[in-house]
Amino acid sequence: MNNYLNFKGKNCVVTGAATGVGRAVATKFMELGANVYAMDINKVSDVTKYIKVDLCRKDQIDNAITQLPDKIDVLISNAALAGTTFMDYVFTVPEVFSVNYIACRYLVESLIPRMPRGSSIAVVSSTTGENWKDKMDLLGDLYENGDTFEKAVVWAENHIYDERVFNGTERPDCLYTFSKEALIYFVKRASFDILKKGVRINVLCPGGIDTPMVDEIARIVGTHEYDKAATNPIMDRAATPEEIADCLLFLSSSLSFSLNGCDITADFGFTPGVMFQRCTPNGEFI
Ligand SMILES: NC(=O)c1ccc[n+]([C@@H]2O[C@H](COP(=O)([O-])OP(=O)(O)OC[C@H]3O[C@@H](n4cnc5c(N)ncnc54)[C@H](O)[C@@H]3O)[C@@H](O)[C@H]2O)c1
Repeated sequence: MNNYLNFKGKNCVVTGAATGVGRAVATKFMELGANVYAMDINKVSDVTKYIKVDLCRKDQIDNAITQLPDKIDVLISNAALAGTTFMDYVFTVPEVFSVNYIACRYLVESLIPRMPRGSSIAVVSSTTGENWKDKMDLLGDLYENGDTFEKAVVWAENHIYDERVFNGTERPDCLYTFSKEALIYFVKRASFDILKKGVRINVLCPGGIDTPMVDEIARIVGTHEYDKAATNPIMDRAATPEEIADCLLFLSSSLSFSLNGCDITADFGFTPGVMFQRCTPNGEFI
């Protein structure tokens, strides 16, 4: 039988591979025979090569790119920050946007020339980005006027405190939702032209996942309510990083050959449950 998940000898780049989903997908790629190039600000063990990089810094990304192989088969753009702190690091609000969105787009566009036909890219967004269609004008403006790393930084500096960017949230250190909406828009808008080069790109939108990020969100919100709201009453738990990593393996394999420019929701059906009023956004049965 065909081994559809054979990544033997494939060069896979994973950002944010030190913890959570990135760690899980890097481990699975290694088990499946891939060479894994892990880009992260925190150390990553047990991969082919760890490349230390702060993804809010263009010079560091450029340096990291020089350490990647000439041929790349898979790119998983996964790194993100929920707020302005992570482990020992503190970031500014514009830097958070750089990690979550600008670095992803820059890396995708920089690495495509190294990706042979049949390669694939999976970007990790979130169910929090699901209302991206409400902001087509703003996201289109970012896409068109932020088409280089430097221009996107300027766009962010000029817009980052707009109410629509912050979604009216009371958490001034968190523009997480907007960055996730921007990722979905970017993948969809760029996907047709990327496919012309023979490379597929899709975006995964997980619901709550049991990773260090949940602890960080709970710290920002000030309660552990997020943890409950991040799942649905049928599962009564968040996804494991391994469950979400499996979706990324699928998007990276030929099993998903017909998918391009798709946003796939991985939340145990929580989103339709809320949409059709089967449960509340807080995870209670209706
Ligand atoms: N945990 C959740 O509930 C949840 C829900 C939906 C979507 N997501 C998304 O899943 C993806 C993975 O998140 P996770 O839950 O595994 O989080 P995590 O916090 O465990 O992992 C984030 C990774 O990004 C790295 N990172 C952070 N800042 C960096 C920087 N400046 N430069 C380089 N690397 C940096 C961290 O070191 C870490 O390895 C993210 O895109 C996140 O937004 C998470």
